[in-house]
Amino acid sequence: MFILNNNDPVPLYKQLYQQIRERVLSGQLVADARLPSVRVLANELAISRNTVDGAYQELFAEGYIYSRPHSGYYVSAHCHDATPFPPNLAPYRQKQLPELQQHFQYDFHPARLAPESFPAILWRKCFNSMLLEYRQVLSAYSDPQGEQELRSHIQRYLESSRGVLCQAEQIVICAGLQQSLDIVAHLLRTSHASVAVENPGYHLPRAVFRNHGYELVPVKVGPDGMDMTALKATSSTIAYVTPSHQLPLGYVMPVAQRLSLIDWAETGGRYILEDDYDSELRYQGKPVPSLQGLRPGGNIIYLGSFSKVLSPALRISYLVLPKGLLADYKRLFRDYFSTVPLPEQLTLAKFMSLGHWERHIRRMRTLYKKKHDALIACIESCFGSRAKITGQGAGLHVVVQFPGVALDEAGFIAKAGQHGIRLFPFSSFRVSGEPDPLQIMLGFGGMTIAEIEQGVELLSRIFHDRL
Ligand SMILES: Cc1ncc(COP(=O)(O)O)c(C=O)c1O
Repeated sequence: MFILNNNDPVPLYKQLYQQIRERVLSGQLVADARLPSVRVLANELAISRNTVDGAYQELFAEGYIYSRPHSGYYVSAHCHDATPFPPNLAPYRQKQLPELQQHFQYDFHPARLAPESFPAILWRKCFNSMLLEYRQVLSAYSDPQGEQELRSHIQRYLESSRGVLCQAEQIVICAGLQQSLDIVAHLLRTSHASVAVENPGYHLPRAVFRNHGYELVPVKVGPDGMDMTALKATSSTIAYVTPSHQLPLGYVMPVAQRLSLIDWAETGGRYILEDDYDSELRYQGKPVPSLQGLRPGGNIIYLGSFSKVLSPALRISYLVLPKGLLADYKRLFRDYFSTVPLPEQLTLAKFMSLGHWERHIRRMRTLYKKKHDALIACIESCFGSRAKITGQGAGLHVVVQFPGVALDEAGFIAKAGQHGIRLFPFSSFRVSGEPDPLQIMLGFGGMTIAEIEQGVELLSRIFHDRL
């Protein structure tokens, strides 16, 4: 029996989700056990069907349960050996430059945010009050690891929104993902030589590992994220993954694979680099909790960024180091200063302390959901069954595949460019860089809904050889 508390600020569906999740993880609900139907459970608990359905959808999206057509939901296998997520979060308390400058009328680049989205007025207010409050501090060097106040806000945010359990002393404020990875690469270099990367996967981290002399081992990605069998066949001792929204394909790694990955790391002194870059932007259900939260004491280095929701121009990211790496971090970096300007750190801390960050996330989710929905509707109406969309429902881009169509990527991108459309080549995500049959990545964050509609319509005319 599940016990739900109407007076608890946690929504009922979330309480139910947490209780079922704990039972799955602890083995009380065994693999393939059938869950009560939505109607039966709603009656039993005297709650609405939507509440039960909401809990089931979350569990389904994260891989804790699966559905059988016309039969209902069942418990997924291999979920039982994790530390359950604590129910009440106890105090754990050159070349590119000309390209960028070129103006495209329809710019589908995946890293663009809505130009009007930066909260300039609030930021200015926070900046001004920061100047008054911290004037004295600005005449000195700041904490090399990042301002304590900002780290504390990030710690609380991560705990409540991403299920990341850490202490502020484990957080390092960095100037973007690559700098975060640069620190990690230094930290792990003496005992690790090879990094497994998702293929296709985010291309920019690869440059960091390469520059540090690591061998890069591409591991294929399927709907369950990084292929665990393929990973285990490599000799890599570090895996860089984007489990909550795989870049570029958008897959969510189900809990069974997450546990298998954690197990892989734990059994051989290996490390998982969890890049949780855009999990705030999920348009169906709640954001998928982090992998770190499944094993807070494990060998997981968690990487986050403010680039997707607030601004990539601020260059503020963070990493959460496992406690076991803190001494090495302090030894290696004790003579480094922080590369993130103190005024920016303190302004962000103020922005968070006044609740603007949470509100901003909600606003951005609403804004980007509208753009996302317009894009999906437009792809469907212009391409119909010729296009298969992956990665929808989250983030700032989708990938469109055209099964059975052999079009060349370079030619298509060039032709789109002649018509004022900028497309980011999907082949950049492949470790070999080789283009496959055409897949296009459509970032929608920086475009208006009208531009999205006109751009997709133009693309479909190019695709259907009508231009
Ligand atoms: C997979 C992934 N991780 C992280 C980031 C954020 O990078 P940064 O913090 O350097 O802006 C991005 C930005 O596009 C990304 O695509």
